[in-house]
Amino acid sequence: MKKLFSITYLLLYFFVLFSCYKTDDGTIAEPFIANSSSFSGYKTWKLESTTTGPATLLGPAHHGVNTSVTRKVYFKNGNSRVGSSYPIGTLVVKEATDAGGALLEVTAMVKRGNNFNTAAGNWEWFILNLNGSGNILKDSTGSEMRGGASMMAGMCNSCHSAASSKDFTFSK
Ligand code: HEC
Repeated sequence: MKKLFSITYLLLYFFVLFSCYKTDDGTIAEPFIANSSSFSGYKTWKLESTTTGPATLLGPAHHGVNTSVTRKVYFKNGNSRVGSSYPIGTLVVKEATDAGGALLEVTAMVKRGNNFNTAAGNWEWFILNLNGSGNILKDSTGSEMRGGASMMAGMCNSCHSAASSKDFTFSK
């Protein structure tokens, strides 16, 4: 009798265990709201693009006119588009460094979903700290530098619209 009980409990245990366990199929419930820790360790993410020197499209943005600047773009988990868009929760970080390797600018975009910034594929824009920590930079009022259509007076949205056929990402 005792043995039967333990077997029943064991079966029950595994049933509960497996019914709670959900495999990571890459789907994240909407909306995905990033915080500073979302970007930590971004330099270990998949490096999808490295460019050095001026980029016509960039103009002065992202240090695009600087001849010695190197721009690197990292995609977390090497995410790719599924159909025409990236999955909710996709994180992309871009950093610009000078010839000596010092960080000049770190920006990010995150697929937030839930009808956020519908003009630009539900992406949220970020400016990150220049110490490589991935922390979201704060403005003089202490607010995190993040946003949608109005971010940087609409410049992130409008320039990245040139890449709308690739879900607003230029590099991949
Ligand atoms: C004048 C055009 C322009 C503006 C404005 C601009 N970007 Fe970009 N951005 C680019 C280009 C071009 C790339 C491709 C990488 C490269 O060559 O530097 C890029 C790349 C990126 C990437 C890497 C993913 C990708 O698309 O390749 C992120 C993240 C990013 N930008 C964030 C931002 C944020 C945040 C803002 C606003 C604060 C912004 N960008 C404003 C032109 C722009």
